[in-house]
Order: sequence, then C-alpha cells, then structure tokens
Amino acid sequence: MAILVTGGAGYIGSATVEDLRTKGEKVVVIDNLVYGHREAVDSSIPFYQGDIGDKSLVTQILSEHKITACMHFSAYAYVGESVEKPNKYFENNFIQTVKLLDVLIENKVKQFVFSSTCATYGEPQYVPIDEKHPQHPTNPYGWSKFMVERVLESYDHAYGLKYVALRYFNACGATETRGEDHEPETHLIPLIIYAAQGKTPHISVFGDDYPTPDGTAIRDYIHISDLSQAHLLALEYLQKGNQSNFFNLGNGQGFSVNEVIEATRKVTGKDFEVKIAPRRAGDPSKLVADSKKAREVLGWNPQFADLETIIQSAWTWHQNKPSGY
Ligand SMILES: NC(=O)c1ccc[n+]([C@@H]2O[C@H](COP(=O)([O-])OP(=O)(O)OC[C@H]3O[C@@H](n4cnc5c(N)ncnc54)[C@H](O)[C@@H]3O)[C@@H](O)[C@H]2O)c1
Repeated sequence: MAILVTGGAGYIGSATVEDLRTKGEKVVVIDNLVYGHREAVDSSIPFYQGDIGDKSLVTQILSEHKITACMHFSAYAYVGESVEKPNKYFENNFIQTVKLLDVLIENKVKQFVFSSTCATYGEPQYVPIDEKHPQHPTNPYGWSKFMVERVLESYDHAYGLKYVALRYFNACGATETRGEDHEPETHLIPLIIYAAQGKTPHISVFGDDYPTPDGTAIRDYIHISDLSQAHLLALEYLQKGNQSNFFNLGNGQGFSVNEVIEATRKVTGKDFEVKIAPRRAGDPSKLVADSKKAREVLGWNPQFADLETIIQSAWTWHQNKPSGY
C-alpha cells in the first residue's frame, strides 16, 4: 500500500513526501525533474524520472507498487510564461493530467488529491475568497487548473473517482530539510531573501499604487508544512469514504509586499535596495483566502501563520543551502 506522489521532487511535493513518511505511509515519487531536484527526494524512496503523461511509465509504477491513492503536485506554474506559451501549460498541466487519471482509473486507483490554486478564481469579486466565489481565471495557468477540476467532477460522476482539490494561496517557508529552489524564481519571499543575501542587487516591487493601505499588493502566505498537513488530512478524508470536495488553503490574513520586505529586514538583520517597478498585468490588488471550510471539514489547523516565523524558516533554509539543493 503506497501513495503515488507526482511532482514529489518539487517544493511543496517534497515537503509532503517527508510528512507522509513520518506518518508511516509508503511513498512512490514520479517527477520529470524539469523543475524539481533529485536531492529533494530521499534516496530510500522509490523514484521514477519521467512524465506523468507517459502511460507506460505510470502503468509500470502501478504494477510494481500497490498504489492506493495519488497526490498530484506536478505542474508548470509560471503564470507569465503561461500567457506567452499556453500550449506548454495546457499540454503539461491539463492533457498529461487526464492521461495520468486514465491510467489510475484503469488500475482502480480512485483516491486523488489535487494541487489546485487560487488562480482559478481570477480577479476577486470579494475578499476573503471562499470556495463559492465565481471561478474565472485570468491566465492559461489558472485555466489549466480550472479544467482539471472540471475533469475531476466528470470522472467522479462517470468512474467513481473520489478527489479533494486543494486551492492553495501563496506557498512559502521551509522545513528543516525542504525549501524553495526554483529556477527561475518568481516568488516574493525567496526573491527578497536573495536580495538580503546579496545574490541579487535589489528587490523589485511591482506596483505601489494599488488600493491597499501602503499601495503594494496583498497576498495570503501559507507555509508548506501547513499545506502538507492539509494533504495528509485530505487523504484521511478520502480514506474514510467521504465525498469529493474543494478546499481553499490560506491563512485568512493578507500581508502587503512592503510588510513582507520589512519583516525580512527584521528577521535577517540585513538591508537591501528596493526598486519600484510597474504593475504586472493581471496582478490583483488583494488575494486573501477564507479557509473556514478546510478547518471545519478537514480539521485543518495551520501552525505557521506568523509572517516572521515563515520568513525565519525560509531564511534558515537558504542560509544552510546558499546554492540550493
Ligand atoms: N507554489 C505556490 O505558491 C503554489 C500555489 C498554488 C498552487 N500551486 C501548485 O502546487 C503544485 C506544486 O507547486 P510547487 O511550487 O511545489 O512547484 P514545483 O515546480 O516546485 O514542483 C512541481 C514539480 O512537478 C514536476 N513536473 C512538472 N511537470 C511534470 C510532468 N509532466 N511529469 C512529471 N513531473 C512534472 C517538476 O519537475 C517539479 O518538480 C503545482 O501543481 C502548483 O501549480 C503552487
């Protein structure tokens, strides 16, 4: 009995793999290593390098291990690139996911935890955003995730697939052993840390004229350990025979870009240059989650909501691994 983790060599997947093992679950990882790191998966874990859309590889994995459920983290997740190259995102995130699902269903693996995103909501009509908020993504990345959600609904109806789709807000932070090492990096906290470490000359703030108290955009930052715990709870929820469901995962508290910069200065004791740049197209002013449903239904209780705690964890990881994995 093992859990198949796709994208298990990536940022959030690798942290969840560790927590699954701590819980006593057997884990098998598939990752094409386009963005992941082999070093992020312990050498004792069965690891398959390849695409989730490779039907013969996934069939081989299912024949070699008794897989009972799949946690599906793998995706390409650069919003800007998805606007320039939508085919890359629809092929990798949507078409390959359908292929993966078909092999799972053929092999009677019918428990599925999906990494969805707040990007499926698009421009917020109200905040905090709950699961009933209308979904109208503003970029192909968001649409690729939205479309997978619709496939999951149809596959539940037709084939009895039971799924939990977790719509994360901004993943952040690090565990003792797993942290954020993306190339290229586009996420705010590691970029500020690079500036604090002197790896980059400054940090760019995209827009300081948003309708927010300090003019910079507000986001909901959620620690990868809290995301990981939500996956474990989602798996238990499915194992108990519950119905398919969607949950937001965020802290319910927003921090502005300036607040994150100030907190990083405080935690690290480092100063660095901040440059104001134009707003990026399609960046909403405020994205904050209403995650009451995950708390009530899954019993999820995030432990790392404090911004300085989040930044300290990331800082420690980056200081210990100055060149990444
Ligand atoms: N990081 C965030 O803030 C955030 C927010 C919302 C949703 N998500 C979603 O969470 C998931 C994990 O995000 P992450 O930040 O850990 O990303 P990541 O890039 O670090 O990890 C994704 C992993 O999937 C692998 N991969 C991609 N396509 C693959 C394929 N076709 N076959 C096999 N492996 C493949 C990559 O090599 C990588 O290791 C993604 O689905 C992402 O869309 C992330």
